[in-house]
Amino acid sequence: MSKPVYKRVLIKVSGEALACKTESGKSFGIDTNMLKSVAENIKQIYDMGVEIAIVVGGGNFWRGAQNGTMDRTRADHIGMLATVMNSLALADAIEQQEIPVRVQTAIEMREIAEQYIRNKAVRHLEKGRVTIFGCGTGNPFFTTDTAAALRAVEIGADVILLAKNVDGVYDKDPVLYPDAVKYSRITHQEVLQKNLKVMDSTAASLCRDNNVKIHVFGVKNSDNMLKAICGEDIGTVVE
Ligand code: GTP
Repeated sequence: MSKPVYKRVLIKVSGEALACKTESGKSFGIDTNMLKSVAENIKQIYDMGVEIAIVVGGGNFWRGAQNGTMDRTRADHIGMLATVMNSLALADAIEQQEIPVRVQTAIEMREIAEQYIRNKAVRHLEKGRVTIFGCGTGNPFFTTDTAAALRAVEIGADVILLAKNVDGVYDKDPVLYPDAVKYSRITHQEVLQKNLKVMDSTAASLCRDNNVKIHVFGVKNSDNMLKAICGEDIGTVVE
């Protein structure tokens, strides 16, 4: 088996990756099969000895920025709670793979999870516990991509693994433009200058300013996470 090229990784799991498909074709809630498949993926790389931190989105329940007339701060608070639901569900699925897990939340809810404390999170990782960070950054107006970037910098992750519906970073939207060209490598600066929508600009600039490598790949192929961990040339590397 190939060897991992990273010691400590931060995986950004989108809420969509956990969702059920409704009859109208929309994604909503949590599908236990999807949850299990993400947990099995995590187990594959856990068994290689990689330290794993996770930030989960909440878009399968709620999108704070798209709630029309609602006050944005309130909408974002609801979104943060959505990430906690996903974090707890994912923790349970990972535990079912017999892997120790800790959940830490940026907003204190101590009956449910530990509070986010950076040094304690690092200790959990060193002890081989998968550590899931809920509530995003704990602030409105910041996405879970920004939370992933922030936590990656704080815990000294070697890379952010970003599994997306699209299998990498393209010069334009490949869904709308069949002639879109995929980059295999690109800099953070180019992502920002060309407005490439890998992640939002706050998250991308945080990664640029702190030299955080991002590996973007397609979520649909379940081997991709393993391939990315082993440094295989899939998707797009931003560094
Ligand atoms: P070590 O200190 O390295 O042994 O870590 P540990 O997480 O095993 O020990 P700790 O005594 O901190 O936690 C034991 C269990 O309680 C773990 O499952 C933690 O996730 C959980 N836990 C710790 N603090 C809190 C908290 O404030 N709230 C909740 N709900 N659970 C907590």
